[in-house]
Amino acid sequence: MDKLYIQGGTPLKGKVQISGAKNSAVALIPATILAESTITIDNLPNISDVRVFADLLREIGGTVELREGELTVDPSAMTAVPLPNGSVKKLRASYYLMGAMLGRFGRAAVGLPGGCNLGPRPIDQHIKGFEALGATVSNDHGAIFLKADELRGARIYLDVVSVGATINIMLAAVRAKGQTIIENAAKEPEIIDVATLLSSMGAKIKGAGTDVIRIEGVDKLNGCRHTIIPDRIESGTFMIAAAASKGQVILDNVIPKHLESLSSKLREIGVTIQEQDDQLYIDASQADFQAVDIKTLVHPGFPTDLQQPMTTLLTQAVGTSIVTDTIYSARFKHVDELRRMGANIKVEGRSAIIYGATPLQGTKVTASDLRAGAALVIAGLISTGVTEISGVEHIDRGYEDLVAKLQELGAEVWRNLPAPATEPAEMDKAIES
Ligand code: EPU
Repeated sequence: MDKLYIQGGTPLKGKVQISGAKNSAVALIPATILAESTITIDNLPNISDVRVFADLLREIGGTVELREGELTVDPSAMTAVPLPNGSVKKLRASYYLMGAMLGRFGRAAVGLPGGCNLGPRPIDQHIKGFEALGATVSNDHGAIFLKADELRGARIYLDVVSVGATINIMLAAVRAKGQTIIENAAKEPEIIDVATLLSSMGAKIKGAGTDVIRIEGVDKLNGCRHTIIPDRIESGTFMIAAAASKGQVILDNVIPKHLESLSSKLREIGVTIQEQDDQLYIDASQADFQAVDIKTLVHPGFPTDLQQPMTTLLTQAVGTSIVTDTIYSARFKHVDELRRMGANIKVEGRSAIIYGATPLQGTKVTASDLRAGAALVIAGLISTGVTEISGVEHIDRGYEDLVAKLQELGAEVWRNLPAPATEPAEMDKAIES
């Protein structure tokens, strides 16, 4: 298994190019199933989740070409091949195959999703939506079976604001007969991105990005070309890494508005941030970090996906910070690892209480999920000595070329190879110490 090694202590400096959004990509790729002619999606991130999804489309008969961030899918020969096992289990977002295949074929069999372990991640709201549209849904041996002779528009109130359920219901409803109204819908930018693609395909959707989405079903959807929005979570990760390392970094290809909740928290902590069109400039070279409290909320609140990287930064802030995750109760697996690096953090219920500032020391740590991995990489960047990170496959699921991008910003980070300036024996000593 691959490992990452980081020799900490270098402030990040320079410019980084942000990739297309992972959480859009994993919804847009299954959305191509709904079309009857060729679709091209560009600005795709080069991450393992995208490659797995491309393979899944091939498995159901699609002609798929994935090259240099561009995916071309001819979905005309696809059929409702059951996918109870195999690659579907590797992806959390494989649940989007349910909505897309139900919309196109009136049936689907999809293994229950895998992906990051963040505690309970039910899909009851997705199922409630499919049933309201007229599907029968059963759960057998770890797979969900869906069937509908005809999908009919319905009024659906989500009991929990869910990104996945909102998108999945949209995917099924664009081909249903009549009008669907999703109330208490999620408002994340990725939902607008999916609605934009579906509209370019010929769907009739109003209100994406608000909490009421209205969809008028159509009989047929066509191919088109679509460019994915920039990844706000990758952007946020680099903003936090730049800040924590006391660096000066320009992020290119960002939508600053998507990052307002993070920018305002970083400013409160003491970081200077300037916005310009599709760029953000982060300057923490002179910053003295102050403790802040953070509560994750649905968009436009502070994103749960940035809570873990932020915890690392807050170990460097003077005073007591409280980070509360209202979305995922068990998203604190990075805390034990940060403690092993010298952080003083206590988890109580849904909150992490961080007492700062504490210096961090490099050691051997394990990423339990994607954003825990990001939190540990940032910890490595600001630690003394060398940090060795296992569980890199989680990081590969969601960050394109993380090592190369950090190296370009001056970080001493490498994958599997010994450090250029450090002999392996010395490195082992540093990691053991
Ligand atoms: N929930 C339910 N029932 C449902 C669906 C969700 O109770 O049927 C609950 C969840 O347990 C959670 C809350 O509702 O407590 C929100 O979950 P949501 O459905 O919004 O999350 P998701 O669609 O499964 C997406 C992202 C996550 C991100 C969350 C929240 C994708 C593929 N995943 O997950 O991203 O954390 O929204 O913004 O889009 C990540 O990128 O690392 C990641 C985990």
